[in-house]
Amino acid sequence: MRFDVLTLFPEIFSGYLSQSLLKLAIDRGLVRVDLHNIRDWARSKHRNVDDRPFGGGPGMVLKPEPVVECVEAVQSQRDAEQPPGRLILLTPQGRRFDQRVAEELAQSDRLLLLCGRYEGFDQRVMDLLSPEEVSVGDFVLNGGEVAAMTIVDAVVRLLPGVLGDENSSIEDSFSRGNRLLEHAQYTRPREYRGLAVPDVLLNGNHPDIAEWRRQDSLRRTRDRRQDLLDSPAEEGSHEPPDAD
Ligand code: ADE
Repeated sequence: MRFDVLTLFPEIFSGYLSQSLLKLAIDRGLVRVDLHNIRDWARSKHRNVDDRPFGGGPGMVLKPEPVVECVEAVQSQRDAEQPPGRLILLTPQGRRFDQRVAEELAQSDRLLLLCGRYEGFDQRVMDLLSPEEVSVGDFVLNGGEVAAMTIVDAVVRLLPGVLGDENSSIEDSFSRGNRLLEHAQYTRPREYRGLAVPDVLLNGNHPDIAEWRRQDSLRRTRDRRQDLLDSPAEEGSHEPPDAD
């Protein structure tokens, strides 16, 4: 899968790209991440990419020309038969990102992630390019870069072959196979500061262990995220286990 990140601050991504799981996926040829600096498409001598808003008000607005021309140039980097990829603009005004959206995006061969800064984009960027607008939550970040990294991170771990164990992302909380929160996990020592590992996890009885985990997941979900149990079950998902 190919990601193109369009940003004014590509250096924000460099540490993240050398991080273990993503780097491994890149080294194994499963993922490609290309960074593009929007400023490279600025026309003026001083390479300005932003300007004051017409009508007044605080902050600066990203000018349409460098953004639109950067997107078009990146979209054109493909073989004739390849689709241009899904264009996603990161903004707090977008569709809320969650595991279902991650699963949907993981079906694509290519995502272009357009990161904003300042007070946002000139409206003509959206009018001309019709991007899908995506938000990572109801809060305002200083720019779309952290949001883009969130999306890359969540999508990459869903791609076949990226995680060692093919099943491990299926069992993640919120994932297609499991809309419940994850159960508690324990490792050695068996007792720490008077807190013991539940006996059931030590007896090697796998049906009992599976049942304990199922109940623990359900208990946690009820206590912390009742909304997950209230949302309608979808095809192919496991039904939430019966209460008690
Ligand atoms: N840019 C600024 N805030 C954002 C958010 N919450 N989601 C996506 N992009 C953003």
